[in-house]
This record gives sequence, structure tokens and C-alpha cells, in this order.
Amino acid sequence: MSQHVAMRRLTAPDIRARKGREKIVSLTSYHAHTARLLDAHCDFLLVGDSLGMVMHGYETTVPVPLELMIMHGAAVVRGASHALVVVDLPFGSYEESPSVAFRNAARVMKETGCGAVKLEGGRRMAETIAFLTERGIPVMGHIGLTPQSVNTMGGFKTQGRRLEEWAAIEADAKAVAEAGAFAAVLEGMAEALAAKITHAIPIPTIGIGASAECDGQILVLEDMLGLSPSPPKFVKKFAELARAIEEAVKDYATEVRAGQFPGPDNVYAMHKGGHAGERVTKMSKTKAS
Ligand code: KIV
Repeated sequence: MSQHVAMRRLTAPDIRARKGREKIVSLTSYHAHTARLLDAHCDFLLVGDSLGMVMHGYETTVPVPLELMIMHGAAVVRGASHALVVVDLPFGSYEESPSVAFRNAARVMKETGCGAVKLEGGRRMAETIAFLTERGIPVMGHIGLTPQSVNTMGGFKTQGRRLEEWAAIEADAKAVAEAGAFAAVLEGMAEALAAKITHAIPIPTIGIGASAECDGQILVLEDMLGLSPSPPKFVKKFAELARAIEEAVKDYATEVRAGQFPGPDNVYAMHKGGHAGERVTKMSKTKAS
């Protein structure tokens, strides 16, 4: 007899409790079908605003609207049943004030069913992080290279490779943790600084381009699958799907052009005893009577 054991979806406190115990595994996901594939292997899935660049062809994440995050967030929640789903608050939806952030984050939570939101910024966002967490919205922080600030940073620049940059980034990490975030993404950061922050704060650090010193890792799914045309240097390709897709599409095109596809296995035969002529006759009789 088969037994169906219901899996409980992981929560923000579950992820928080992993600090110092177990590495945290996560990937981005933007659709129900990838969510279904990743769900059993990841502790949380991030509906990152990187979807604007990866899926919608924007040059940065700045143009991504809240509605797009909600649409993709809801799809990922429908596809996953085990992993915590975290949805990014896009640029312009939370920086103005804690109450604007609460209104938009609450909309994301209600309309997607996700378990937490993520926002970028350290000390400058601490008040907002506290405001949201005190009101029932789990927040994941994101410091170091913060892509929504690409225009003020002057590009996607690795952080903390000079000692004089460290104090500000460490202060950001402490502010995010003290404000009540349950975890913090460290993006594009020198290994030694990521190690120092990971030891200094009581919440898990999730690294992306920030070394194995972090409590967990995240990558953009399309980067690690070899689907992105120019992934960042820190990405390891665990597959070469772009090549596999191109090969498959080339084979399909060749077979269609040669009249080989669809073949005998890919067509619907008539039911036994039926043939097109008989069916047409029956249908015409029914119509006539
Ligand atoms: O948008 C995103 O995918 C992210 C990850 C890079 C952490 O924020």
C-alpha cells in the first residue's frame, strides 16, 4: 500500500534556524515548471527580479514592475510544495517609506501566497525591515552588490575587495540582522569579507559570488544550467542546456522540413471500426433528423 506523506512547506523561521547547523540550498525560479523540478532539492526558491533580465530581456532589474513579480511569484508558489518561496520586491516598490513597503509587500504575500519577501539595502533599509517583520512579513536582506542600485554604483561591481570598504558593508550586515531579517543575501563580495560577516551576524548568509564561507548558496537557475549567454565569473555551469536546446531545435527543424515529423508514433489513428467516411455520414444524418 502506498502512503502519502504530506510535506510541510519550509518557513522563514526554519531557514533562520539552519544557521551553524546545515548549509542552505537555493536557486531562483520564475515559473511553475521549474519550481516543480527544484522543489525537492532546495530549501527556498527565490523569485528574483533578475527575471527582468533573464526572461524579459531588460539590461538591468530597474524596470521590473510589481505586477510582473506577483505574476511569476504566484506561478512558483503553485509549482512548489516543500521549499519556502521568497519574492523580490522590485525597484521603486519599497524605498520611499516603510508604509509604502508594507502595502506592496502585503500585496505580494496575499496575491502570490509566498512565505517571505526580499529587498535590497543595508542600514538605509533597516527601519523598513523592522516595520515589515513587526507586522507579519518575513524579510530576507540583500547586501554587497545590490543590482537595483546599478545606476548609483556605476555598474555591477564586486564589493569589499579593498579593506577600506569593509566597515560600511559590515555595518549594513549588522543593521539588516538587528532589524529582524531572517537571512541575508551577500552578493558579489570578497571571500574574506563574506567569512567575517557570516561569523559576525546571527542570521544565515546566502552567498552568490561570495564564496563557500556563507551559510548557504543561491544561483540564478539559467546561469547554472548554461542557458545564459554571458553569466558572471563566479557561476559554475552544472549543465550545458543552451547547446542541448539548440541541437534539439535543429533536429526538429530538419525533420519537419524533410516530412519525417510527425511520424507514425506521433499521429492519432481512428478508433477500431471507425473511419472518416462513416463518421461524416453519421454526423450528417444526425443533423438532418
Ligand atoms: O534577483 C535575483 O535573482 C537575486 C539573486 C541574484 C540573489 O536577487
